[in-house]
Amino acid sequence: MKISLAPMEGLIDVHLRDFITAYGGYDHCVTEFLRVVDLPLPDRVFYRICPEAATGWKTPYGTPVHLQLLGSNPTSMAINAATAARLGAPVIDLNFGCPAKTVNKNEGGAILLRNPERVYNIIYAVRSAVPDHIPVTAKMRLGYEDKSLAIENAQAVQAAGAARLTVHARTKVEGYKPPAHWEWIAKIREAITIPVTANGEIWSLEDAIRCREISGCDDIMIGRGAIVRPELARMTKNMLTEDFDWTHMLRNIVILFERTRDEGKSNYAPDRVKQWLGMLSKHHSVAQTCFDEIKRIKDKEEILTILLRYLAQQEGAQ
Ligand SMILES: Cc1cc2nc3c(=O)[nH]c(=O)nc-3n(C[C@H](O)[C@H](O)[C@H](O)COP(=O)(O)O)c2cc1C
Repeated sequence: MKISLAPMEGLIDVHLRDFITAYGGYDHCVTEFLRVVDLPLPDRVFYRICPEAATGWKTPYGTPVHLQLLGSNPTSMAINAATAARLGAPVIDLNFGCPAKTVNKNEGGAILLRNPERVYNIIYAVRSAVPDHIPVTAKMRLGYEDKSLAIENAQAVQAAGAARLTVHARTKVEGYKPPAHWEWIAKIREAITIPVTANGEIWSLEDAIRCREISGCDDIMIGRGAIVRPELARMTKNMLTEDFDWTHMLRNIVILFERTRDEGKSNYAPDRVKQWLGMLSKHHSVAQTCFDEIKRIKDKEEILTILLRYLAQQEGAQ
């Protein structure tokens, strides 16, 4: 069984990849999508989305990092994939699942699933542009409005030369609403011969077991479940259940905030910490209270003071 850490734009960056893969159990992770419009992107953009490119495309824990590209123009995608290959990307993953309005308006992400031929053309162009030893993989949803083209899209992915397909078992219209239709992954898996990774709604060991049973896939990808329970991959591989360690998590949230407070745009650190706490808050009552307290605050010092207060309370209670 292989377990991958899902790409999550706006959340799983170099810091969270470091933090989550250190828990063990992840065989690889995927960067946030790198948006390709027309022009060849400069090298620095690749290093920005994947700082690990400077250290062998691995997290400090040693987990390989794959680069994800998102775009609709086969030529531009091919040119930028070639740059990624030159910079040493071990695998190039292509995004056919993003539901964001701005992305779909520009014909990128899930909207491409309306037209399997376009999916084919993009993958084929990228596959032709990078050396044979670098696998090109794809990640798709079950469709845009409905699932009627799911099999055709998967077949297009394979015919174009992709080495693996990850399926997020929902259409674009279904968004992130449970359930994930794992039975559809089984239909896709039966229609193609390349390995398929199952993705969507894996929050626990029990979910991982059921997803593998229903989809028939050996391999799974975990997204939000890894944010909420970073130890999930290791636990799944060892068939263990473990208590959630909120104090450890909060300590890491503080570390992330301190590391990133001066990074990028001024709201970079607050936005990511709020996203992380927001997801945690659905599963943990103290995270909920902490999130409610910081969610509208913009001032970084104020946010840090609140986080440190919660951490001191937690540590005091132990
Ligand atoms: C905040 C957020 C950002 C995401 N960004 C990406 C992305 O950049 N590329 C991608 O292929 N999928 C992206 N996804 C989808 C996830 O990779 C994954 O397919 C989805 O969350 C379902 O898996 P899960 O139920 O385990 O979270 C994103 C999802 C979320 C919630």
